[in-house]
Amino acid sequence: KRPAGAPPKELAKKVQKVGVIGAGLMAGQFALLFARKLRVPVVITDLDQSRVDKGLAYINGEIDKLEQKGRLGADDANQVRALVSGTTDKSLFADCDWVIEAVFEELSVKQQVFAEIEPIIAETAVIATNTSSLSVEEIGANLAHPERLVGFHFFNPVAVMPLVEVVKVPSTDDETLATAMAVAKKLGKSAVITADRPGFVVNRLLAKVMGEAARALDEGTPLPVVERALAPIGLPMGPFELIDLVGWKVAAHVQDTMVAAFPERFYASPNLHAMADIEDPLVKNKFGKVEDLSRAAKKQLSFGKTA
Ligand code: 3HC
Repeated sequence: KRPAGAPPKELAKKVQKVGVIGAGLMAGQFALLFARKLRVPVVITDLDQSRVDKGLAYINGEIDKLEQKGRLGADDANQVRALVSGTTDKSLFADCDWVIEAVFEELSVKQQVFAEIEPIIAETAVIATNTSSLSVEEIGANLAHPERLVGFHFFNPVAVMPLVEVVKVPSTDDETLATAMAVAKKLGKSAVITADRPGFVVNRLLAKVMGEAARALDEGTPLPVVERALAPIGLPMGPFELIDLVGWKVAAHVQDTMVAAFPERFYASPNLHAMADIEDPLVKNKFGKVEDLSRAAKKQLSFGKTA
């Protein structure tokens, strides 16, 4: 059965080479997934060679782990390793038919990235963004061919989370949308087509959970209490463990976007940004679960002092 809002799958274009802009953790996770599941060359790029090398080292480390666990046989692992390359030379993206960015969550930065890449790639190549809450339409506002623009939003940890949000903007044509749906399927993900609204669907809900958890802390409820209160209702992890997983800066950014879009509905925690500036704000037990705030966090923050 065709997913809601999806065009006929016959319209999907072939994807034979993937370009990933940004070599951070999220980009590294999905670059690996593209290579594993699509079995096509994947090239990653970033601002400088050291960032690219770090991204490649992460990807190769993950391939090693998959091989050790027996998830990838030796031949498969070698094939996937050989498919992933890194460069600072964007001209090597010229033959990519799917380009996806996961750079810093700043509108102007993402627009700049698209302005640089569009003249290099074919007019028909899909241009996707993994933005977590910015407007996809605004990110692609200056594209010469906005019909190939689509949001393609993964969740952390990419290898495990079963969903991709495919964000359709008014300019997205049926071929692009069908391609995005086909790619998601090949990646082994369920795809939902969402409107281009702040936070799409998932982050709109998660930002509420994270924001209210931060508010409880701001009001003086101890972190372990907030963290454990939700466990009995079956959430896989507490709100602070989740923030820690997605990254404090990312969480704070999503929060800012939601507060800006819906000031009456979302809460800007005075301490969430401060936590993002502390290297390791949480104390974790041997299973990596969150127990409390680190000493550094307690020293710098004013939890319990705000109402
Ligand atoms: N990276 C890669 N793989 C990971 C991983 C990670 N960070 N964490 C877990 N895994 C893998 C493990 O290696 C394991 O694989 P295996 O079966 O091959 O051994 C598998 O996932 C299961 O791991 P665990 O046994 O540790 O599983 P748990 O039962 O503890 O579940 C979890 C871990 C899947 C992360 C679960 O706690 C969960 O679903 N948490 C909620 C995550 C969530 O809500 N993510 C969405 C965040 S929002 C977002 O990303 C959007 C952004 O825009 C902000």
